[in-house]
Amino acid sequence: MKVLTVVGARPQFIKAAPVSRALRDAGHTEFLVHTGQHYDQQMSSVFFEEMQIPEPNVNLGVGSGSHAQQTGQMLVKLEEVMQLNGPDCVLVYGDTNSTLAGALAACKLQVPLAHVEAGLRSFNREMPEEHNRVLADHCSDMLFCPTETAVKNLAREGIKKGVHLVGDTMFDAVQQFAEIAEERSTILERLNLKSKTFLLATVHRAYNTDVPENLRSLLSSFAEIGETVVFPVHPRTRQKINELGGTFAEQHGRSDVRMIEPVGYLDMLTLEKHARLILTDSGGMQKEAFFVGVPCVTLRPETEWSETVEAGWNIIAGVEPGEIRRAVTKSDWPAEPPAQVFGDGRAAQKIVALLADERSA
Ligand code: UD1
Ligand code: UDP
Repeated sequence: MKVLTVVGARPQFIKAAPVSRALRDAGHTEFLVHTGQHYDQQMSSVFFEEMQIPEPNVNLGVGSGSHAQQTGQMLVKLEEVMQLNGPDCVLVYGDTNSTLAGALAACKLQVPLAHVEAGLRSFNREMPEEHNRVLADHCSDMLFCPTETAVKNLAREGIKKGVHLVGDTMFDAVQQFAEIAEERSTILERLNLKSKTFLLATVHRAYNTDVPENLRSLLSSFAEIGETVVFPVHPRTRQKINELGGTFAEQHGRSDVRMIEPVGYLDMLTLEKHARLILTDSGGMQKEAFFVGVPCVTLRPETEWSETVEAGWNIIAGVEPGEIRRAVTKSDWPAEPPAQVFGDGRAAQKIVALLADERSA
């Protein structure tokens, strides 16, 4: 079987790593296309190196731009690559512009399309990701869902055929790399941090970065928490903080806010595991907090990962400083580690087996 995989943004490298490995292990051929949506070393190549993802067969070098520019350029280039390559199926991940372009290109060429992390919904149509995931799901032939909720979301939209509950490949990745991170990461020593004495924060959603009052509100909340806050800053957020007048979260307030460059996956797994609590608007990090049993405060008005909230491990705080303070000072987090609802760590193998079955059907 020849699978053409489309990735382009940081979380997609992580989601794709276990599947890429499972494809190789099962003797299939993967043609890996990097759209170039993320391109900084710390946003892209660090994940290929650390997670031993093979070099992409082609990098489309699309880079940053408006939604239309970025998605349009990807679409044109992907069509050409898919025509030249003639895959048995195309595999797309998650909800970025790279996902949408890959899905549309495959669908228009009538190449069987498979979507990993299908069925996720925030029910917030102001999010660019919500458009991308809805559209990708509606043109997919195979839909690999991480949770029961995702399967139900698809059913509500009339999508029942080709839907498979396989679990979450990000859970697979954590299982595969937790021990390696423990052995190799030196981030705690480098930042002089002791386990469970710091908070970990990330912010990159358009709603939080591009609305200045929301970004200000988050930065001043971090500054006022009164603890050490390790904050690996996404390049989009760095730009917007600079536009607001620099690094004031570090300079003012009662906290020790450490704004650092984005970190690699092994360092991030280590920071997550040893944080007292995680503050984030990242989808992937809400899940990873849950996987490692660290309380999470979500800096958004809603989440796609409702299971983490229902289990009591995630609080939806939005951007209001009062809400964030309340969540950070909460003391009655669950006593027991979360029961895992994201599969058994073998989602990637299930995906590969289902793809192969479909090919031979
Ligand atoms: C994208 C996804 C988002 C995902 C996130 C993961 C879309 C619409 N958004 O958001 O769903 O959660 O990736 O991180 O696809 N930049 C750099 N260097 C890089 C990459 C980006 O400097 O390597 C800067 C550029 O100024 C760029 C901005 O970040 O304009 C935003 O990048 P982009 O890929 O458009 O969106 P993200 O915010 O990263
Ligand atoms: N991540 C990382 N380094 C960072 C920030 C995030 O390795 O500095 C990882 C994180 O562990 C998770 C993924 O990137 O696996 C989440 O990606 P991101 O937050 O960019 O996107 P989202 O999940 O919100 O789409």
